[in-house]
Amino acid sequence: DVVSNVPAQAQICAGCHGPDGNSLVPMFPKIAGQHPEYLEKQLKNIKENVRVSPVMAGIVATLNDEDMTILATHFAEQPARPTPSVSNGPGSIGEKIFQTGIPGAGVPACASCHGANGQGIAPGFPRLAGQHANYVTTQVQAFRDDQRKNDAAKMMRMVAAKMTDADIAAVADYIQGL
Ligand code: HEM
Ligand code: HEM
Repeated sequence: DVVSNVPAQAQICAGCHGPDGNSLVPMFPKIAGQHPEYLEKQLKNIKENVRVSPVMAGIVATLNDEDMTILATHFAEQPARPTPSVSNGPGSIGEKIFQTGIPGAGVPACASCHGANGQGIAPGFPRLAGQHANYVTTQVQAFRDDQRKNDAAKMMRMVAAKMTDADIAAVADYIQGL
């Protein structure tokens, strides 16, 4: 049954990310239904400190490569549950930024890499649909502030550098409702 298939290591994660990876707390990312390759890469990036996360650093220090593969596979297999958005209706600024970018500021459409439905166009491009707006906001700011500096994050650093805090808040709210 489902319960006996939960790896023992996943108990450490449940307190913040939820037992099935659908965190209820806005600062903790939902990791359910995410691409397994992306989850595993983030754990390794945090361990190598090319993604700075004081909270996760102590946890990944206790995990070996096999644990990371097991945990990434487990959470990726859990069905994702979205959180209602406050103002993501058609015609919202957030929708425009996500689907078409901000041409005047040189911001490309998020959809070109994360997909029109926020599913991520390939394993290296994370699924964003239904993610907490609060978490999305802090991560876009983390790219802008060079806290996420792995090779793949170069794409996001270029995007984030051209966005204002108001742009980020609008698109984050849209993403939460996707
Ligand atoms: C981020 C996995 C335990 C708090 C992440 C990410 C992954 C992950 C894959 C990156 C998500 C993404 O990029 O979308 C795990 C696993 C855990 C675990 C497998 C157990 C072994 C915890 C615990 C806490 C926590 C116990 C709270 C004390 C966070 C926070 C972030 C994060 C705050 C966002 C990164 C940041 O900005 O600091 N986790 N996690 N995690 N996790 Fe965990
Ligand atoms: C990661 C948002 C545009 C490529 C992320 C993350 C967020 C995000 C929140 C972190 C996800 C997580 O931690 O779970 C956005 C928004 C965009 C946008 C709001 C539009 C304004 C793009 C574009 C590209 C791209 C145009 C491709 C050129 C990536 C990649 C990652 C990522 C490769 C993973 C980076 C890593 O491995 O750390 N994006 N994104 N994004 N995004 Fe975007």
